[in-house]
Amino acid sequence: MKQERRDVVRDHDFDGIQEFDNQLPRWWLGTFVLTILLALYWWGARETFGTEPSIREIHAQQWAELQALQLEKGGAPPTAEEVEAALADPEALAAGKAVFESTCFACHGSLGEGNIGPNLTDAYWLHGSRPEQIGLTIFQGVPEKGMPTWRGALSAEKIQQVAAYVISLQGSEPPNPKAPQGTQEP
Ligand code: HEC
Repeated sequence: MKQERRDVVRDHDFDGIQEFDNQLPRWWLGTFVLTILLALYWWGARETFGTEPSIREIHAQQWAELQALQLEKGGAPPTAEEVEAALADPEALAAGKAVFESTCFACHGSLGEGNIGPNLTDAYWLHGSRPEQIGLTIFQGVPEKGMPTWRGALSAEKIQQVAAYVISLQGSEPPNPKAPQGTQEP
């Protein structure tokens, strides 16, 4: 049954603007109903029956992918051997000093004597004094305590170098040292 197509003009008038009182076109109603059916399908599939991953699951998966990518880009935390190699190499140590003096001094003092962050020249440590522990602290940071994460912000090489430089500060006894924090380690 074919509907008769004609334009019915409504008899009111808004500031000279009139409107038709036509039936909605079939194709328009069709897409409208389709959106409702699709919404029901996706709601059921995602939230009720679990046949499709929920938005939360998709988000969790994407987040895990992003973190894996970040880890890949930021490299792995430095190993003890890498830090020790930098410690034995004067050029690497000088590079570590440059990183320290441009990036770490604001919180740890330009000589490592401590400020907002702990004194790095004494024998007291919050997160361990072994080369790989110092490297890991720098790599992952202690964000909840105000020590930034340097993974991704500094290259793996720079983290090794600055970790070696921190070790080289041991026992340097700078003026105005911050009081020891943590436990004494050899
Ligand atoms: C915004 C301030 C800030 C900056 C910048 C910063 N740190 Fe820290 N750092 C801290 C704080 C605060 C702590 C103490 C964390 C805690 O209480 O657990 C810390 C802790 C550390 C520790 C562990 C000390 C211990 O006793 O175990 C090391 C090593 C360290 N930082 C090295 C660095 C290096 C290297 C840099 C530069 C690349 C740097 N920090 C930049 C604030 C900072």
